[in-house]
Amino acid sequence: MLDLIVRGANLPDGRTGIDVGVSAGRIVAVEPALSAQAATELDAQGQLLSPPFVDAHFHMDATLSHGLPRVNASGTLLEGIALWGELKPLLTQDALVERALRYCDWAVAQGLLAIRSHVDVCDPRLLAVEALLYVRERVKPYLDLQLVAFPQDGLLRSPGALDHLTRALDMGVDVVGGIPHFERTMAQGAESVRILCEMAAERGLRVDMHCDESDDPLSRHIETLACETVRLGLQGRVAGSHLTSMHSMDNYYVSKLIPLIREAGVAAIANPLINITLQGRHDTYPKRRGMTRVPELLAAGVPVAFGHDCVMDPWYSLGSGDMLDVAHMGLHVAQMTGQQAMRQCFDAVTTTPAGILGLADYGLAPGCRADFVLLQARDPVEAIRLRATRLAVFRGGKQVACTLPRTAQLALPGRPAAISFQP
Ligand code: FE2
Repeated sequence: MLDLIVRGANLPDGRTGIDVGVSAGRIVAVEPALSAQAATELDAQGQLLSPPFVDAHFHMDATLSHGLPRVNASGTLLEGIALWGELKPLLTQDALVERALRYCDWAVAQGLLAIRSHVDVCDPRLLAVEALLYVRERVKPYLDLQLVAFPQDGLLRSPGALDHLTRALDMGVDVVGGIPHFERTMAQGAESVRILCEMAAERGLRVDMHCDESDDPLSRHIETLACETVRLGLQGRVAGSHLTSMHSMDNYYVSKLIPLIREAGVAAIANPLINITLQGRHDTYPKRRGMTRVPELLAAGVPVAFGHDCVMDPWYSLGSGDMLDVAHMGLHVAQMTGQQAMRQCFDAVTTTPAGILGLADYGLAPGCRADFVLLQARDPVEAIRLRATRLAVFRGGKQVACTLPRTAQLALPGRPAAISFQP
């Protein structure tokens, strides 16, 4: 007797009519016509059962702060950073916790059950670090929150940042962050990468840096990050976030750079909603898209995830924790409209970021924790097309959220009474 069986589901790998059995919070069977019985049975009716969405790049200390203390008038990255600087002295721990918990509610409802969030460590009070460490424990029963120590104002550029970042890691922040392109010179950027990678190697931690988030074709910090990864034996533990300068780089140089990234085992995290809005701001026409070279990185064997980055904060006033919205934008910006490419965009918000975060028991296979989401779509491509409704979200075999199916009622002569946008 099992606890739960979801019957007749389609899976992201293309299998159809699959039953998924759950016992004691773990998946114990994934097969057609499972002969066992369960206390609870759910008929998936041929809809897609997916492992949960994973966001590899977010800023939970800034989320839902839109309009505080004012709105970003230009909509640019640099005004956003300045605005965040104005907001920081006004932050309180209670407000940070309340906004983060509210965002986690949204995330769970969207089937987003694991988030890597950068947390700004440049405030000597480390208020945001304390708040998000508390939130990490508080949400642990329903959401995996991984924190990155992020020196927003520059490790070397901002006085005391190295000390604050070290303290944040001592307090239990999981991952070493950085922002080399924001340092004063290219040389100081490279120096910051070296210092931070050595720190990660000494502590046995992962690395995830905001890297080359500009339209500067000569920004070279991803090259340094890959080299330091190899030098320190950090392969498989390092991610470069944004990498937007790669959009503008010389093609010959990129033909040398991508194999280096691949050899270093460095993953890439693009943030399509943010890259398409923040990059190319100095262009007239044509305006650059600014997102990194996703199809080319994937073709070389580099893991590429899509992150949400921002939701209703100083940089971006939109968003709702919907990783299918993120995948939809990534697919369009990268022109990844082939069938295989569209499925890769679904992977970029599920399995690929799970690998980057190092989530041990993630997936739809026996032995994995019974975390999954039933979508109102039959396959990953339809899920992206419809930004499909999350019919039911499960964590450890327990349903933690549900949404009614999306159905429109029609009053048209001779036409169906209801439609759900599925052919
Ligand atoms: Fe970011």
